[in-house]
Amino acid sequence: MKYYKITTKQDFKFVSYLFKPENTKFFETKKLSIKEPRELNKLSRRNDYVLKVDGKKIGWFNIRQSINKKDGVFGIIIDKKFQGKGYGEQAIKLILKEAKKLGVKKLKLTVFENNLKAIHIYKKVGFQPVRKEIVMDKYI
Ligand SMILES: CC(C)(COP(=O)(O)OP(=O)(O)OC[C@H]1O[C@@H](n2cnc3c(N)ncnc32)[C@H](O)[C@@H]1OP(=O)(O)O)[C@@H](O)C(=O)NCCC(=O)NCCS
Repeated sequence: MKYYKITTKQDFKFVSYLFKPENTKFFETKKLSIKEPRELNKLSRRNDYVLKVDGKKIGWFNIRQSINKKDGVFGIIIDKKFQGKGYGEQAIKLILKEAKKLGVKKLKLTVFENNLKAIHIYKKVGFQPVRKEIVMDKYI
């Protein structure tokens, strides 16, 4: 498995394609226009990558860093048709390496409690639940 930082229009298009209902049922962000990945990619301390296997784009991940760069939060999508083949676990191991390279000392994630597949992999590679949070919102 390989990965590289997104830079081209094709990459932005691919990331936006990944944000489709089959892949985002456990996501807060359900859809992403083609423009959004490009705009997000301009943010400092945000790094977005495409994952490739045998020359095919199979997924995306990002690492968002705190101001001092020592804390990182990541997100990951393996496209539905490539899920269940071990790529998710492989990708998370690469994310850990890449985050280390970026100077991150503690990597964090949030996951829906019914996303059992994701939770299984995170625990397998050593992530531990920290606390339960209540997320609140209000239309104003
Ligand atoms: C979560 C995700 C990254 C996992 O990637 P993947 O390539 O499908 O996962 P893998 O094939 O590497 O591993 C799946 C593991 O989950 C296990 N698993 C599958 N269904 C499960 C379930 N319902 N409960 C517990 N474990 C489950 C598999 O047995 C396998 O573990 P094993 O290798 O120890 O047997 C991928 O499914 C995805 O992108 N989902 C949509 C986006 C998403 O939810 N991202 C995470 C947001 S926090």
